[in-house]
Amino acid sequence: TARTAQGGNVTGAWEALRDEAMGCQRCPLWKPATQTVFGEGPVDARMMFVGEQPGDQEDLAGRPFVGPAGQVFDAALGEAGIDRATVYVTNAVKHFKFEPRGKRRIHSKPNAGEIDACRWWVEQETMLVQPRLTVALGATAARSLTGRTVTIGRERGRGFELPGGGTGFITVHPSFLLRIDDPARAEDERGRFVVDLRAAAALVV
Ligand code: URA
Repeated sequence: TARTAQGGNVTGAWEALRDEAMGCQRCPLWKPATQTVFGEGPVDARMMFVGEQPGDQEDLAGRPFVGPAGQVFDAALGEAGIDRATVYVTNAVKHFKFEPRGKRRIHSKPNAGEIDACRWWVEQETMLVQPRLTVALGATAARSLTGRTVTIGRERGRGFELPGGGTGFITVHPSFLLRIDDPARAEDERGRFVVDLRAAAALVV
């Protein structure tokens, strides 16, 4: 089994971290949310994917990327030849941020303060998993990993060195694909997403 540098059990350390995250109050988002949605996947994964924050369904299920964006993500991973069961999937922000609108809860973008407050968890997950490649899905994840504002269109699709060490990779967020109305353009962008994922996978073989 995998061991930390201290000789401890990585799975045990990850479970302890996740349990600690369940009570996180580092920013005010914990209060209206149902629960912390921590990362999941093998602690010895070679690839780690970082999304933005849990959505409505993730907040209820307690698992990342299980709603509509998760379905787009899973399909694209499959097309790129990546088995989701082999990768670690987490979010830059671990509580669902929303505006109530009638009975619905409308997704609201996490701000820089919330991203910064939650970065500690992503760093802990990174230290335990020690992925060969960390893939940021969208601008929030890219900001969490690089500490700066990223223009996805300019920086997507190639590996680069992360400030804290390790290799990063930036691509679009699957929700972006769901928001494109024109079917031809949506198909085109979906294809570009798969191309990015294939390029990311090629960096870890
Ligand atoms: N969008 C994200 O960024 N993460 C999730 O877990 C679900 C939707």
